[in-house]
Amino acid sequence: MTSDIDFIRGLPKAELHLHIEGSLEPEQMFEFARRNRVALPFKTVEEVRAAYAFSNLQDFLDIYYQGAGVLMTEPDFHDLAMAYFRRAAADGARHVEMFFDPQTHTDRGLPFSVAIDGLLSGMAEAKAELGVSSKLILCFLRHLDEEAAFATLKAAEPYFSRLGGVGLDSSEVGHPPSKFAGVFKAAHRRGLKLVAHAGEEGPPEYVWEALDVLGVDRLDHGNRSLEDPALVERLVASGMTLTVCPLSNLKLCVVDDLKAHPLKRMLDLGLKATVNSDDPAYFGGYLAQNWIETADALRLTREELVTLAKNSFTGSFLSPAEIATHLAAIDAYVA
Ligand code: ADE
Ligand code: ZN
Repeated sequence: MTSDIDFIRGLPKAELHLHIEGSLEPEQMFEFARRNRVALPFKTVEEVRAAYAFSNLQDFLDIYYQGAGVLMTEPDFHDLAMAYFRRAAADGARHVEMFFDPQTHTDRGLPFSVAIDGLLSGMAEAKAELGVSSKLILCFLRHLDEEAAFATLKAAEPYFSRLGGVGLDSSEVGHPPSKFAGVFKAAHRRGLKLVAHAGEEGPPEYVWEALDVLGVDRLDHGNRSLEDPALVERLVASGMTLTVCPLSNLKLCVVDDLKAHPLKRMLDLGLKATVNSDDPAYFGGYLAQNWIETADALRLTREELVTLAKNSFTGSFLSPAEIATHLAAIDAYVA
């Protein structure tokens, strides 16, 4: 029998929760800073990595937004995406639904088109060269106001046919989903899929709002849903997919030990959980590393690993025919 590590790496899977700006490795940060003549407050890669000790989400976000400041041109975003896709392909990813934060870049003065055109060209190259398909999800920054989100949605209008959906990220506590009810309604009217981070640090009420006020098609994180049995029942009954990020939860102190991570409990409750990397350059591991460390800490069975892989495709925004093809590939791999 192959080892669990080999089994996991070879298992066809999708990544549904990945912030492309969170795949910026320190080495790349220096390369882009040099290319673009941007000054960095760090002298060495080691110094950067030493700064990645976070007590909570905000600690991380402060350094993550600072890091993104080295991204200046379309080729930067293209190269960032391709570097991520090469790692994802090596980890057995066949499909990726990738977040980006356009406001992080437009607020620094970059035209809206720079990030999105660079990412879309990287996505096309990944499909052609690596056989990895992808969709792009535009996230609104929830620490900014809804008016800014509306302006971002308007700027994105020429790209609607090439967008997989819209999402909501950044500082959760104090910025409930209901703050963005109007812009999500507008995105829904334009036929875009909806996702939102909720229940990462925020209370179960935020998850209820993501469901009932925003009408999300998929929930990002959702860990704190487990505090509310009625909410769990609702998530199970509706077959809602949760994009869970174990190493992120560990690094941001959402859990203090992977052995205490709720992923297995989620599966036992009948929740449609998936495993994802969130911001892999900051949290110590890409897709397969998340799977491997979580499988080990929680003693996941092969059956549970196959369920997680299947959930990653059935929870994706691929067409039913595409999903069926990926599920058949999982069955063939297991056989
Ligand atoms: N932006 C990037 N990663 C994030 C996370 N884990 N939560 C909220 N916003 C984010
Ligand atoms: Zn996230």
